[in-house]
Amino acid sequence: MTETKQDYIPALSYRFLTPFYDFIQKYIVRDVRYKTLLIEQAKIQPGHHVLDLGCGTGTLAIMVKQSQPNAEAFGLDADPDMLKVAKQKSDEKHAPVTFDVGFTNLLPYPDASFDRVMSTIMIHHLKTPDKIRTAKEVFRVLKPGGELHIIDFGKPTTIYGKLLGPFLHKFEEANDNIDGKLPEIFGAPGLKTEILGGFWTFFGDLAFLKGVKR
Ligand SMILES: C[S@@+](CC[C@H](N)C(=O)[O-])C[C@H]1O[C@@H](n2cnc3c(N)ncnc32)[C@H](O)[C@@H]1O
Repeated sequence: MTETKQDYIPALSYRFLTPFYDFIQKYIVRDVRYKTLLIEQAKIQPGHHVLDLGCGTGTLAIMVKQSQPNAEAFGLDADPDMLKVAKQKSDEKHAPVTFDVGFTNLLPYPDASFDRVMSTIMIHHLKTPDKIRTAKEVFRVLKPGGELHIIDFGKPTTIYGKLLGPFLHKFEEANDNIDGKLPEIFGAPGLKTEILGGFWTFFGDLAFLKGVKR
């Protein structure tokens, strides 16, 4: 495991909420539904190396391994407490995943090591300079022809999402998301990016992003 020393925003902003994370994701945010859709979007093949950026308690990385047992799944997160839960879940489900402590802006992986990089609702934890550094790192670790698949807060498309917009704008890290800038930021190093659809949640409108390294 690689460790770096930087600050980061914990999953639910406050550490004391970490034990409730999976409950909230499952019953309030309906994460299994959008994670299933993101896995379908990624079309993971046998032999693929797949990285879950900011994997938290590992739900997506474990689902990747379950959906394609002949792929190699990796999960990276800055929070060792989240990774402890992730490791326990992957052991219980017999879905082996390599979990690493690390930061998205300094990935502990060689160039061109992944066929797919995926991420669910973590990019809005990063300030703009960190998003830009993360985009460069994603580009570096993707193989040529490799793909990025993200679901995160996007430009509001529903009336509810538009009403929530001003509230979410109070969080500096979420501004790029709500202004619809993720395709531009992740496209800048050389990915061809597009938004493929949306997903309504109680916390705001999410958007599915796809990027391809040409
Ligand atoms: C809202 S949670 C999402 C977790 C998981 N992807 C999911 O969908 O359940 C955001 C995660 O990003 C992690 N995180 C925040 N900033 C990070 C950074 N700079 N590098 C790596 N992980 C980070 C947090 O520790 C947290 O686990």
